[in-house]
Amino acid sequence: MSVLRSIVRGVGSYLPAHIMTNADLTKKVATTDDWIVQRTGIRERRIAATGEMTSDLGLAAAKAALANAGMGADAIDLIVLATSTPDQTFPATAVTIQAELGITRGAAFDMQAVCSGFVFALATADQFLRSGDFRCALVIGAETFSRIIDWNDRGTCVLFGDGAGAVVLEAATQPGTREDRGVLITRLRSDGRHRAKLYVDGGPSSTGTVGHLRMEGREVFRHAVGMITDVIEDAFAATGYNAGDIDWFVPHQANRRIILGSAHKLGIADDKIVVTVDRHGNTSAASIPLALAEATSDGRIKPGNLVLLEAMGGGFTWGSALVRW
Ligand code: UT7
Repeated sequence: MSVLRSIVRGVGSYLPAHIMTNADLTKKVATTDDWIVQRTGIRERRIAATGEMTSDLGLAAAKAALANAGMGADAIDLIVLATSTPDQTFPATAVTIQAELGITRGAAFDMQAVCSGFVFALATADQFLRSGDFRCALVIGAETFSRIIDWNDRGTCVLFGDGAGAVVLEAATQPGTREDRGVLITRLRSDGRHRAKLYVDGGPSSTGTVGHLRMEGREVFRHAVGMITDVIEDAFAATGYNAGDIDWFVPHQANRRIILGSAHKLGIADDKIVVTVDRHGNTSAASIPLALAEATSDGRIKPGNLVLLEAMGGGFTWGSALVRW
């Protein structure tokens, strides 16, 4: 029986020009290149220029994704932007991107699930496309975490970076078989009991300020691999796929040890993992589409490949998605 699926038509990304290396960070806080590389795998990250905003990064990634899809902005009737670092408290940064693209129809809104934001945004857009409410979506992850980092806190400032990535999804009829292209399943989870382990100590309704990121890194780390592998096992159980079927594993890029720990627990081989954390750091909701853009443009991910996505972050929130390219 034929079904509507959300098919990936294009992928794009944008990274700010300025590279901040681990050596640069040793001039700001008591840290070493060795510590950062051994504990996280990060060697450098990008930092947005003064005046360069989340909407600028997201817009550039969206334009690249549309170009990669060979589509004009007039095809888009839904924009879902995953971000925890919006330009303003409101309106949604997605409407700025919508206006900059010259789109005056459909809907655009932001989604807030911190590092899991891209998976939550993908799942949301997929639901709307499969319901037939919208036809063609831009799903964007864009972040300027450099603006909410406490640059005196060595426990967090070495971890994060700025960037954006985007995918174009289009609803299309598929045969309803195992060979279907598109988003095959998404699985989302949250557990707010953990909200104080990774948060920002400010906000419009609490302090009236933007605030800074605070994290109990060891606590987040302790939960990460179990939550990630559980939500992937859920996606496998619901679809009948298993680790051996996966062509590419494109995880959220927080820490190389979490990525490898999750892959090894699931039985996914190292040569199937897309890793960008060494060059991007943790770009929160932008990390998965940034990694997708890299692995599609260099020819690793090809049409027909089965791609596994996962993320875990503040809330806690976590989620997985299986996509046939
Ligand atoms: O995107 C999703 C959310 N975020 C994450 O997934 C991050 C999860 N957490 C992590 O990736 C890791 O916990 C960190 C990379 C943040 C930290 O690694 P760790 O192995 O858990 O180290 P730790 O926090 O247990 O700290 C070990 C030591 C401490 O010193 P003492 O108490 O043992 O003397 C820290 O003070 O390392 C010290 N330390 C540092 N030393 C040098 C913490 N940050 C630094 C630093 N440079 N930048």
